[in-house]
Amino acid sequence: MKELLALAVAALFVSCGPRSAGNAASGTAPEEVRTPVEMAETIALVKPELKGGLTINEALQNRRSWREYAPEALSLEELSGVLWAAAGINRPENDHLTAPSALGLYPLRVYAFFAEGIYLYDAKAHRLVRVKKGDFRKVSGAQPFVETAPLNLVYVGDRSVYEGRNIPEEHQYYLCGQDAAGYAENVNLYTAGHGLRSITRGSVSPELLSVLELDPARYCFALAQSVGR
Ligand SMILES: Cc1cc2nc3c(=O)[nH]c(=O)nc-3n(C[C@H](O)[C@H](O)[C@H](O)COP(=O)(O)O)c2cc1C
Repeated sequence: MKELLALAVAALFVSCGPRSAGNAASGTAPEEVRTPVEMAETIALVKPELKGGLTINEALQNRRSWREYAPEALSLEELSGVLWAAAGINRPENDHLTAPSALGLYPLRVYAFFAEGIYLYDAKAHRLVRVKKGDFRKVSGAQPFVETAPLNLVYVGDRSVYEGRNIPEEHQYYLCGQDAAGYAENVNLYTAGHGLRSITRGSVSPELLSVLELDPARYCFALAQSVGR
């Protein structure tokens, strides 16, 4: 009878325990949470799960370029992690990002192309803000898989950050591309460590800036990526 009572108490404890807290005592990983993304005017992203994913060495071992994607959307947790890896603020005291930037000038905007629309990443609020409704994924690349990948990221440089610094125009394009490589590789390592796929792409449609309604005298395409599973 004593044993039965102990079992019942244990069962009650297990069924009432927190659903995603994991087991701190045994060190097991938390249960995976997969929240569907509501494609509203703004998408509030969630804080990154710092304990999740593979180790950095395992992610490095897994990293490769993928050119085949299932259409399945990323969960809110996955989307949040990808954006945070690309350009999330990891030091709120000075607003510096997960990726480095030449001269600390951060010229890049991160656009996210979904089937439902184009969004701009607002790192400070860790949210996505819709800039256009509709499926413009084709414009974010030049290969067929960009139209299947649930997410395509496009890094656009704003060269106005270099004003008054005596940096030749040609060099400004290099700096934007160099910054973008860091953002993109952060994403590649994040996806490799979280069961996702991605690829860095230098190819994009020539219509990109006009679709984004950006002045080519100021803005430039730096790099793109497809992300999915
Ligand atoms: C800056 C840059 C631009 C790239 N552009 C493209 C591209 O437009 N399309 C593509 O299919 N792959 C692109 N790649 C991916 C490379 O083809 C790929 O990294 C290379 O073949 C090595 O394969 P791995 O990444 O699987 O190791 C690009 C890679 C980099 C670093």
